[in-house]
Amino acid sequence: MNILREATRLLEGNRRMTNGYQYTIPSAEHYPYQWLWDSCFHAVILAQYDPEAARAELRSLLSRQFADGMIPHIIYWSPGILHLFRWGVEGTSSLTQPPMLAYAAWEIHRRNPDKKFLESIYPGLLSYYKFLIERRDPRDHHLIGVINPDETGEDNSPRFDAPLSAAPDISYKDHLALRTKLVDENTACNFNAEMCMRNFFWVKDVPFNTILVENLRALGHIASFLKHGDGEHFANLHAELIATAMRDCLFEGGVYWSATGADYALLKVATWAHFAPLFAGLYSTSEADTLVRFQLLNPDTFYAPHGIRTVSKQELSYRGEGYDNGFSWRGPTWMAVHWFIYRGLLRYGYKKEAADIRDKSIALLEKSGFRECFNPETGEGQGARGFTWGALVLDMNDG
Ligand code: GLC
Repeated sequence: MNILREATRLLEGNRRMTNGYQYTIPSAEHYPYQWLWDSCFHAVILAQYDPEAARAELRSLLSRQFADGMIPHIIYWSPGILHLFRWGVEGTSSLTQPPMLAYAAWEIHRRNPDKKFLESIYPGLLSYYKFLIERRDPRDHHLIGVINPDETGEDNSPRFDAPLSAAPDISYKDHLALRTKLVDENTACNFNAEMCMRNFFWVKDVPFNTILVENLRALGHIASFLKHGDGEHFANLHAELIATAMRDCLFEGGVYWSATGADYALLKVATWAHFAPLFAGLYSTSEADTLVRFQLLNPDTFYAPHGIRTVSKQELSYRGEGYDNGFSWRGPTWMAVHWFIYRGLLRYGYKKEAADIRDKSIALLEKSGFRECFNPETGEGQGARGFTWGALVLDMNDG
């Protein structure tokens, strides 16, 4: 079967409806709930051929927004299956995830304008981004903190080994135990971000902040279109402030690094986070050129036969084979990462390199199916099956 058709079928098959809210689960077998950034990916894909379903995906996310503006990273629409992710209040987690909502909303609008829909979600969007900027940056330094690695969507990435006190060769089980302990600490301080960050885990992550910059710009477009001058000013101002702070505090040796603690100690583990800022245009043309030539396309670091490694092969923590065939962010290739890099490359005009990422993505799906992640050296699939992120190949085009 044609891979693109299979992608649309998978999204349809994973579609669920609870209490009048429609959403798509990432994998029926492994992830039977709604996840925040996953749903934004689904919305971006669906925007191309089923805008009503794309809009539903965002409406259901916003339906569980907290009073302070937070949007939880998981909504347990039908509880009782998985206990592992039971973090926080009734029915949802108390963490968030990379803030792709405004990008998804603008993408839906770009392809299929619907002013009423944008108007209906605008207050929720604005209060979510205000929450991130006000609550996750208590010192007004313009870098947004995460309180747990799971908020970055890259649950066991070695970027977070130092703040978690994890060794490079830590097992999946031991890593999960560290994250579970952190969730207990987060719970004990009632998910109060300032307390959680100061006492337990305070990371200013590169992909998270990059995604925020690009999403604030999308929010700026939405606010401008709806003629909300204040919102437009807020969004554009903070996009600029964060981009500048990233340059001042997270940029060293030609690349961006995530940082930890009050003093921004750089977390010097080479991961795909170096490439994330391409997505928001945060490198100059010549910096991007060096990065693409000497890192992205370098077989000794990131460029593997079957895809881009999420961790450089030079890192002690690199493990392309993953863990016991489960998911891992310690090297395997992930489709969302391919998508961010694809979009970043196109932004800088690297058409050939972007097409190569798309071809490799399709080849992985053809070889191993819609798996959660893939061994970049062999192309073997790992983790969940029937995982929706593969459908992002539908948005790997220059339309
Ligand atoms: C895994 C991924 C996370 C994703 C979730 C649901 O935990 O690491 O990014 O949101 O699965 O697909």
